[in-house]
Amino acid sequence: MTQQVKAIRIEANGGPEAMKLAMVDLPPPGTDEVTIRQKAVGLNFIDIYFRSGLYKQSLPHGLGCEASGIVEAVGANVRHLKVGDRVAYGQSPLGAYAEARNVPANFVVKLPSAISFEEGAAIMLKGLTAQYLLRQTYRLQGGETILFHAAAGGVGLIACQWAKALGVKVIGTTSSPEKAALAKANGAWEVIDYTRENVAERVLELTGGNKVPVVYDSVGKDTWLTSLDCLQPRGLMVSFGNASGPVDGVSLGILASKGSLYVTRPMLGDHVATQEKMAAAAGELFDMIIAKHIKVHIGQRFPLHEAGKAHAALAGRQTRGATILTLD
Ligand SMILES: NC(=O)c1ccc[n+]([C@@H]2O[C@H](COP(=O)([O-])OP(=O)(O)OC[C@H]3O[C@@H](n4cnc5c(N)ncnc54)[C@H](OP(=O)(O)O)[C@@H]3O)[C@@H](O)[C@H]2O)c1
Repeated sequence: MTQQVKAIRIEANGGPEAMKLAMVDLPPPGTDEVTIRQKAVGLNFIDIYFRSGLYKQSLPHGLGCEASGIVEAVGANVRHLKVGDRVAYGQSPLGAYAEARNVPANFVVKLPSAISFEEGAAIMLKGLTAQYLLRQTYRLQGGETILFHAAAGGVGLIACQWAKALGVKVIGTTSSPEKAALAKANGAWEVIDYTRENVAERVLELTGGNKVPVVYDSVGKDTWLTSLDCLQPRGLMVSFGNASGPVDGVSLGILASKGSLYVTRPMLGDHVATQEKMAAAAGELFDMIIAKHIKVHIGQRFPLHEAGKAHAALAGRQTRGATILTLD
């Protein structure tokens, strides 16, 4: 039977005010889907790109791709989940900002009992991103010193802790002393204020002139050139986000002149494209949390109907760690 549930929708791209709380139809799940009664929703910077129109999707549409909850109904082909399971996901089609919804079961994993619904909603996109960045894109071995921008953010605080657990020294960047202290408390070795300091000079100094083998850069436009200057010859630039705007107009020759550099622009979806890959990456992440190598830092919570305020805070650099949208 089709139900009616509250969900955030946008009719047109725009600012936070473009998001409206609406009642939407929720039909029974398709054969490969599950219906999830949601307990918490994760906020991510990618939600801002879809709202603003930087990333295109045909309108009108919902928002969000990360949440946790309880399975309420199961499609005929779904084998790995059953009604009543505690679950989470971080790679769904848009529409996670909702009380309940249908999600392709391939994207959904069972949540261990030691991990709360709020933690589940905070880690399935951000934590799996840290997993593939540190364990797949550039497989850290321990002993490296690396540069990770926006270290006090949602992905950043998880990545700092994970890297430290691997025996890696993280040089983080943040925009304030308070965020720097938070990044350090979560495992960063040193923190540079990239709004005031010369990052390339500080990295050179902190590494005794060696620079770093890999830079993880989700800030994009504002940090692109600086990041290249922090890399050792043949180092890897991992450009994985656009918080300050997309990097464009790049001439490949710059990679030669800065030291035969490599560059990649990865996306989480390509790393967890099958149920097996998703389960393996999520299993590794859950193990890190259960072993207390990673503590999930939820810096702020907003009720679902205040999703606009949450977006304004995230876009305005006001948030720390993960942000959750709460449901009644
Ligand atoms: N490619 C992927 O697979 C993937 C997956 C997940 C996330 N991401 C990317 O990773 C980044 C982090 O995501 P998140 O959800 O965890 O967000 P977040 O890091 O919690 O928030 C973004 C942070 O970026 C920094 N920033 C620098 N310049 C900014 C600007 N002009 N406007 C706004 N923020 C700016 C701010 O930290 P300071 O105040 O310290 O500068 C801000 O807090 C985003 O760029 C996101 O798109 C990519």
